[in-house]
Amino acid sequence: MANENKLQAIIGHAKEYGFVFPSSEIYDGLGAVYDYGQWGVELKRNVRDYWWRWMTQMNEQNIVGIDASIFMHPTVWKASGHVDNFSDPMIDNKDSKKRYRVDHLIEGFAETLNKEQGDALLAEMDKLIAADDFAGLKSLIDSNKIKCAVSGTVNWTDVRQFNLMFSTEVGSVAEESNTIYLRPETAQGIFVNFLNVQKTGRMKIPFGIAQVGKAFRNEIVARGFIFRMREFEQMEMQFFVRPGSQKEWYEYWKTERMKWHATLGIPAESYRFHDHVKLAHYADAACDIEYNFPMGFKELEGIHSRTDFDLTQHQQYSKKKQQYFDADIDPETGKAYGNYIPYVIETSIGLDRTVLMLMSEAYVEEDLSTAEKQDSRVVMKFIPKLAPIKLAILPLMKKDGLPEVARELMDECRQHFKCFYEEKDAIGKRYRRMDAIGTPFCVTIDHQSKEDQTVTIRYRDTMVQERVHISEVKNIVLKAINE
Ligand code: GAP
Repeated sequence: MANENKLQAIIGHAKEYGFVFPSSEIYDGLGAVYDYGQWGVELKRNVRDYWWRWMTQMNEQNIVGIDASIFMHPTVWKASGHVDNFSDPMIDNKDSKKRYRVDHLIEGFAETLNKEQGDALLAEMDKLIAADDFAGLKSLIDSNKIKCAVSGTVNWTDVRQFNLMFSTEVGSVAEESNTIYLRPETAQGIFVNFLNVQKTGRMKIPFGIAQVGKAFRNEIVARGFIFRMREFEQMEMQFFVRPGSQKEWYEYWKTERMKWHATLGIPAESYRFHDHVKLAHYADAACDIEYNFPMGFKELEGIHSRTDFDLTQHQQYSKKKQQYFDADIDPETGKAYGNYIPYVIETSIGLDRTVLMLMSEAYVEEDLSTAEKQDSRVVMKFIPKLAPIKLAILPLMKKDGLPEVARELMDECRQHFKCFYEEKDAIGKRYRRMDAIGTPFCVTIDHQSKEDQTVTIRYRDTMVQERVHISEVKNIVLKAINE
């Protein structure tokens, strides 16, 4: 399937089968904001839990978690550089005095062109935005003679920066209110708690602090479904190390994160590293792990060597020391390393992008036609560990004691994993519905089950069916989800 069609097919499937809905859809939605439906939320929760366990429980490094607030003291964002540096381009029309986000203006114009011309214009715009080429964006607007919708003129200012942070007010009356920001990354909640965790947890360097939570960005190029959202979730880990050892740990985390990705059942060739040439103000090395999305290779996760930038900035702005005392002996000097501000390696992955990756990888349209009849199915081949539902329990009929046998199995299994029970419709239809949401195992209970306590287990990917003793079902599923 052509890649663009595949993304459209996934978006349609996600909506039809309860994975992802446009936000406030009955009011025609809200740009780049999405809601997770009943199966999407299970998939997302499974990914979040797996990442969390892998970081804080299965990892050989000493990593603990926190859950910081979305609202933070406004000075945090001054110190982190987001107030001054976290921005995107905008432009004003001198006649109408109306301000436009450059991407909105160009996108609106692209819609008036034919598809080919429109796509070419948007591709050019994306390139210029990625390169921070404001003069280039202005020329693009000028050369296309893009007009202001209000004044109808092409009398534009230069392109200027637009901050991506959403702001709101705290305080009950206007005079007392203070502008605060919705966090654009979860990382700062970790930095400002560095000493709280280090001291109360008696943590020794090197150690990590992990966090999963919402982040908000007023994105200017908000396309690509849940790839680029204005409200999204990040899974971030800051790893605090001794100054001078950051290169080694940066390489370590690049390798380590790829090990995690390898456990998701995605082929290695679907990933690649992309080293940053233009480094952010806080980094001395940075790369992206890119995945081959239906739109092509794009950033999924960032690994950044953030130096001591953030802690140093917070020390300066808060006037509170952010130092760690390292009692270990430096072999070069024979003395304790002493006080220093640790360096930080960050791993930062978007939860929603991971969900999109898993959906892209899992989505398969299969032609099952035979000489006798045409047939096809859409199947989501999620690995069992991450599938929203692990087992569907399907009595063949609603009578003759079959539902009772099925309910008993359901009671046993639902203590351990997510099950789904259904008695309605022909069995073939029920299998197809389970394929469409990626349920790896279906169990059918028939009259024979009552006689010899066997059931038919059907494997989603191969569609092979076999008879097993009912007492084996739970362990078959448990084994698959623990792999
Ligand atoms: N703390 C570092 C940081 O925030 P980033 O590269 O800006 O770095 C990290 O973001 C990850 O967050 C990205 O790799 C991506 O997976 C995810 N992400 C960023 N912006 C996003 C958006 N608008 N929608 C969905 N995910 C996003």
